[in-house]
Amino acid sequence: MEDKVVKYPKYFIEILNETKKTGFNQLSDEKVGALLRTLVATKKNANILELGTGTGLSTVWLLDGMDEKSKLLTVDNDENLVNIAKKYIDDKRVEFFVENGEDLITRLEVNSIDFIFADTWPGKYNHLEETLDLLKSGGIYIIDDMLPQENWPEGHEEKVKNLIEYLDNRDDLYCVKMNWATGVIVCSKK
Ligand SMILES: C[S@@+](CC[C@H](N)C(=O)[O-])C[C@H]1O[C@@H](n2cnc3c(N)ncnc32)[C@H](O)[C@@H]1O
Repeated sequence: MEDKVVKYPKYFIEILNETKKTGFNQLSDEKVGALLRTLVATKKNANILELGTGTGLSTVWLLDGMDEKSKLLTVDNDENLVNIAKKYIDDKRVEFFVENGEDLITRLEVNSIDFIFADTWPGKYNHLEETLDLLKSGGIYIIDDMLPQENWPEGHEEKVKNLIEYLDNRDDLYCVKMNWATGVIVCSKK
């Protein structure tokens, strides 16, 4: 089976081209985008949280799968990157936050989010417990970049190992680890 992605979301190609020009090298994998779209489409009238907007690539995948009544909160602390996302995405379902993800996580209500894509430090390598507390029962938590990547900083492997161990040991989650794309873990809350 060829795992080639077909049917890109609106503005995906435009944002991708503009992202490449900036030299930003932490952009998300398109296969992961297709998985996000597939999974988020199972959630209706849902509250979605994206940690790490970047230039909006994963944002457009999420929006593509979301129904009209769902809402997406997305946060990144780099205004220049978020401005690329905002230049293309004009959608009343999304709210952009330019601040540290830690601050947004702390402000949100516990047990209020149906789907979390954690693609930055907070929600993955710090504030993990607080992030998982936001998730409703039946909610989905998804992370990628779990397989060694060229852009990993020194010592990152240890952090990844600890994160996997922590998720494995949570009694309130079912998780599946996939050695596919950049290495993906999908968890659902019991
Ligand atoms: C892996 S990239 C996100 C990629 C994006 N999801 C995409 O689809 O291309 C991680 C992002 O986290 C942002 N970031 C780093 N530390 C942060 C923090 N403490 N709070 C919020 N954003 C942060 C960076 O600016 C960067 O855009």
